[in-house]
Amino acid sequence: MRKPDPCVLVIFGASGDLTARKLIPALYEMRATGALPEKFKVLGVSRREKTDDAWRTELAVSVQQHAKRWDPVRWAEFAKCIHYFAGDAAQTAMYPGLQDRLRQFDESDGTKGNRLFYLSVGPELYESIVQRIEDAALVTEGKRWCSITPTERSWQRIIIEKPFGSDEKSAASLNRSLGRVFEEEDIYRIDHYLGKEVVQAMLVLRFANTIFEPVWNHRYIDHVQITATETVGVGNRTAFFDSTGAIRDMIQSHLLQIFAFVAMEPPTGMTAEDIRAEKIKTVRALRHTSPDDVATHAVLGQYAKGASEAAFVDLPGVAKGSTTETYAAIKLHVDNWRWAGTPFYFRTGKSMAKKRTEIVVQFKPPAANLFGGIPHTSGGVTGNRLVIEIAPAERTRLRFESKVPGTPMRISSIEMSADFDKQFGVEALEAYGPLLVDAMRGDQSLYKHRIEVESGWAAVMPFLDISSAGIRKSIASNYAPGSWGPAAADELMARDGRTWHNDE
Ligand SMILES: NC(=O)c1ccc[n+]([C@@H]2O[C@H](COP(=O)([O-])OP(=O)(O)OC[C@H]3O[C@@H](n4cnc5c(N)ncnc54)[C@H](OP(=O)(O)O)[C@@H]3O)[C@@H](O)[C@H]2O)c1
Repeated sequence: MRKPDPCVLVIFGASGDLTARKLIPALYEMRATGALPEKFKVLGVSRREKTDDAWRTELAVSVQQHAKRWDPVRWAEFAKCIHYFAGDAAQTAMYPGLQDRLRQFDESDGTKGNRLFYLSVGPELYESIVQRIEDAALVTEGKRWCSITPTERSWQRIIIEKPFGSDEKSAASLNRSLGRVFEEEDIYRIDHYLGKEVVQAMLVLRFANTIFEPVWNHRYIDHVQITATETVGVGNRTAFFDSTGAIRDMIQSHLLQIFAFVAMEPPTGMTAEDIRAEKIKTVRALRHTSPDDVATHAVLGQYAKGASEAAFVDLPGVAKGSTTETYAAIKLHVDNWRWAGTPFYFRTGKSMAKKRTEIVVQFKPPAANLFGGIPHTSGGVTGNRLVIEIAPAERTRLRFESKVPGTPMRISSIEMSADFDKQFGVEALEAYGPLLVDAMRGDQSLYKHRIEVESGWAAVMPFLDISSAGIRKSIASNYAPGSWGPAAADELMARDGRTWHNDE
């Protein structure tokens, strides 16, 4: 893999949770793999005053807690590249000083004018920081790059955290603000789910094997379930969650990205352009559910009071009578040749029975059942099932039918299972690390394109806008904590003659 160019990673929001818990531990781990550039600096920017040393000391505590392995000598070496700059990123006054500091790095450390800006601040600051970056002329290539030869140019890229907008309109507005300053090829909309091994492994599973692709379509696949559930409630993020909800927080962002990898056509190559072109087409093919169908295509819920946690609606910070969903199950159709008639079910929830992120590909039963009269240990032949587990384990399981040894003849479903950790003996890296290195290398394969984001929003808007008023009306405490969600979600599946993949 090509080593990234020398660069400075400028993290806006350096004092925050994401920087301490995810970004710096991930970079520390990536240094050990040798994937970071030789000439590399991290410059953290936040308002509160602190010195480089004070920030390094804070980060050391966090890295000890959150990195996989702690080695004080390795940390001391890595910490030398970490620096801090105090200032208000929403104000122009800060930028000349920031520019000077960056130039110093170029001179003393050979970072060559290459900047990777990371917006790890609240979303309300995204547009103003982008504008300040432009005003301060920190983007020296941008629209002007074609006027100089590629070898001479230094690059400036920007990583934007989620949430990327709160609906289709605000996402489009943010895209326009970014597009006025950066080229699309320099805009990195991050989704850490795409840094997870199993999501990337989906490409290999589908396109490096011959046995899956011929049956990966509506003729053989009955339906697909994409689930991400948590056992914990909303914790102390009540106000944030009440203004966001499960659809925005999980389905629009992470689950639609997983969907794109499951449903896309084979790319013509492995470049970012090839992969993103296919993902865009796939997300654009999601049908926009009509207002009349919203009630039959979605179930929303809020968890009730449990033994140790209050009901969502009673939590401090949650608006009285809130109709924000802590659970959502949504059925979407894909209007293209491959998937016509094969629904995709998306499900996410807080305070659920199990913590689980998985993709379930349920194949149709055989066209002719020769074994109707033969006893089956679980009732009958139901069709193969491929379960791709992303969390807590990274595992792929294939269920198929087998004869039980002995007589008389009996059939049972059995499973083949491939466990990533056991199979390869390597621990998966924290998702942020490889994604950061990709951005330094200019590889956007695992980052979202503008059109994907806007198309994703368009597909879920009927479940968020006024069309969803009916399904939001009586969701208060409609599922018990520790359950698999509201009974209506089982009914949604039962109407389609299907069941959720829950306890198996
Ligand atoms: N935390 C996660 O696990 C996570 C996961 C996914 C996405 N995200 C997204 O990542 C972003 C950051 O999340 P977070 O949890 O790290 O938030 P956070 O803990 O609130 O940190 C944001 C930091 O930004 C700094 N800040 C605020 N206003 C600023 C300004 N005008 N100029 C410079 N710095 C400013 C603050 O430090 P000062 O007070 O010192 O300025 C604050 O510590 C959010 O958009 C969030 O949605 C976070």
